[in-house]
Amino acid sequence: MEVHVELRARNTLKAAERGDVLVIIDVLRCSSTIVTALVNGASEIIPVSTVKQAKQMKLQRPSYILAGERKGLKPEGFELGNSPREFTHRKVNGRAIILTTTDGTLAFGFAKGAREVLVGSFLNAEAVGKRVCKTACRENCGISLVACGKGGEFSIEDFLCAGRILETVPDEELALSDGAIAALLASNGAGERISEWVHSGEHGRALEEIELVDDIGFCLRVNRYSAVPVLSDGKVALQSH
Ligand code: MLT
Repeated sequence: MEVHVELRARNTLKAAERGDVLVIIDVLRCSSTIVTALVNGASEIIPVSTVKQAKQMKLQRPSYILAGERKGLKPEGFELGNSPREFTHRKVNGRAIILTTTDGTLAFGFAKGAREVLVGSFLNAEAVGKRVCKTACRENCGISLVACGKGGEFSIEDFLCAGRILETVPDEELALSDGAIAALLASNGAGERISEWVHSGEHGRALEEIELVDDIGFCLRVNRYSAVPVLSDGKVALQSH
C-alpha cells in the first residue's frame, strides 16, 4: 500500500484525486480541537472555509455553536475560538459546531469526493493509524497523510505527527514515499524533544505571542483518545467501525 505525506492543506485535492484514504492533520490546532470537541460530546462539526460562510450558516442554524479563529484568535461574534481547551464537556456536549480556521478547515473543503477522510492529531495518533490502515487494506488503495501547515506553508508539528501516525502502521504493508520516510525519520529523531521543537517552531512562537502557549502542551499529549473523527456529507463526527 502506497503512503504519501502531503505538506500543505491545498494538496488535499491532489491526494483525494489519487483515490487515497486521507488523514487531515493540523495539530495546532484544528485537528486537536475537532478530536477534543467530539470526545467531549459534540454531535458533529461542520468545517467551513470563511468567517462569512460560518456566520451565514449560524443564521440558518442558530442552535449551533459558532467557533474558530483568524490569526489564532476568536473572530468577533463567535462563541468559541480554536483552543481545544475551550471545548469542554460542559460547553459542547450534545451540540453541533460550525468551525472555521485558517488552514485546517480549508483542507476539508479540498477533500470533497475523497474515498474516506479521517482527522488525525497526536491525541488520537495510534487509533487513526490503525483505522487508516484498515480502510486502505479493505479498499486496496493508498494512504495520504495531509500535514496542513500554516498559512499555506510547511509546519513542523504536522509533519512530526504524520511520522508518529506512521509509526503505528505495520511496516511490511507499506510502500513509503520519500516524504513519508522523512516524516518517520523526523518523528523517531525528535523523540523526547518533540515538545521543545514544536514550542520553538513558527506556529509555537505565534501561539506564545497571543498567550495561548498552553494549547501546545494540550495538543502534544500522545494517544490520549481512541476516537477517530470521520468526514461524511460535509460533517465531521465519530462513527462506530
Ligand atoms: C488553522 O487551521 O490554521 C489552525 O488551526 C490555526 C490555529 O488556530 O492556531
